[in-house]
Amino acid sequence: MNILVLNGPNLNLLGQREPGIYGARTYKDLCAMIEEKAKQLGIAVEVRQTNHEGVLVDWIQQALGTFDAIVINPAAYTHTSVAILDAAKAVTLPMVEVHISDVSKREDFRQVSYIRAACQKTIAGHGFEGYLEAMEYLASNSIDN
Ligand code: DQA
Repeated sequence: MNILVLNGPNLNLLGQREPGIYGARTYKDLCAMIEEKAKQLGIAVEVRQTNHEGVLVDWIQQALGTFDAIVINPAAYTHTSVAILDAAKAVTLPMVEVHISDVSKREDFRQVSYIRAACQKTIAGHGFEGYLEAMEYLASNSIDN
C-alpha cells in the first residue's frame, strides 16, 4: 500500500506557528513521525506540503494510479476550497481529513469543511498523532494490505 500525505498552507511553519494551538514540534518532526509509522505498518508513504491551492489540486489528480489512499490536511483551504473537494471527488481514492487542532472548538469560519464530503473519516484535535491514526485507518481498511 502506498499512501500520499498532503499538507496545505502554513503547515511548513509548524513549531514556530501559533505553538499554543499547533504545538512546539516542527514540520520536519511530523514528516519523521509519519515515515516511522509507515515502516511500522509495512507500507509506503510520501509526505508533501504546499502553500498553493492549485498545487494541491494537481497532486490529488496525479495520485490516481500511483497512490492507494490520501491523508489530507488542507489547512485553511479546508474552509474555502471547492476546487480541492472536486479534485478529491474526481479521483475517488480513499481519503482521510486530518486537522492538528480541534477545529470544532475554534472560530465560526473553521466550522465549514468542503473536503469532508469526499473523505471517509475526519480526525481533528489529536495533534500530530492524528496523521498516524489516519494511516492506521487507511491501512486496515485497504483490500490489498
Ligand atoms: C488546521 C486548521 C485550519 O483551520 C487552519 O487553517 C490550519 C491548520 C489544523 O491542522 O488544525 O492551517 O488544518
